[in-house]
Amino acid sequence: MRAAVPDAIFAHPRLARVYDAFDGPRDDLPAYTGIADELGARRVLDAGCGTGTLAILLAGTGRAVIGADPAAASLDVARSKDGASAVTWVHAGAAGVPRAHADLAVMTGNVAQVFLTDADWAQALRAIGAALRPRGYLVFETRRPERRAWEEWAAGTGAVTRDIPGVGRVEQRFEVTAVNLPLVSFRYTYTFRADGAVVTSDSTLRFRGREELESSLAAQGYEVLEVRQAPDRPGHEFVFVTQRSA
Ligand SMILES: C[S@@+](CC[C@H](N)C(=O)[O-])C[C@H]1O[C@@H](n2cnc3c(N)ncnc32)[C@H](O)[C@@H]1O
Repeated sequence: MRAAVPDAIFAHPRLARVYDAFDGPRDDLPAYTGIADELGARRVLDAGCGTGTLAILLAGTGRAVIGADPAAASLDVARSKDGASAVTWVHAGAAGVPRAHADLAVMTGNVAQVFLTDADWAQALRAIGAALRPRGYLVFETRRPERRAWEEWAAGTGAVTRDIPGVGRVEQRFEVTAVNLPLVSFRYTYTFRADGAVVTSDSTLRFRGREELESSLAAQGYEVLEVRQAPDRPGHEFVFVTQRSA
């Protein structure tokens, strides 16, 4: 299996430490705790859990939660948070998630877009399917390509600076570096005012359309139950609610 190599923004220890401060309030997460309630999920796999905010929220409601991510630095941040000991943390990309017999697997924060090739996406879906109990659910979000988010990104909002406890002032700059649809690449540049260090992170995401998603899910044995909106980002996202066929 090819090892997943996460972007520096998740994998570089200095960037992982400031990730939540730039990510802002997580207005996206209540919809996912609501879905876990709605589906009666007691065992949840958070694939691509990053710094663990959702995994910890879900474990705080008494669920058995596995948070898996290929970025060790993000998992270190997750493990340092209050409530983290209630989660089982696994250092693995989606293709390497354990067979957890989970009722529900989630991929929030547009994790589904990190899989650039058809083969990587199919492999992730297969491994997550194997981590679910029969008829278990996979719920994930991905940006709607017709919304052309990269155009808004390119218009840019300039630099953002945060004063982060224990770190100091950090400036974040963002630029779109390439649009080769369905792939969009961008770079974050962080300047740490405390010591002048500059650290960059390059990312590429894939924008898949609804039909492509539906057929790739069907090919890996998932039934699409519903495609919802993300309540905090109406019109921007597909939220796929799917179920393992058997
Ligand atoms: C935008 S973050 C979202 C993190 C988290 N789900 C959240 O909502 O805060 C994307 C995450 O995908 C992870 N990632 C990158 N490659 C991955 C892969 N092959 N399998 C699973 N996760 C991956 C990154 O390490 C990062 O934590």
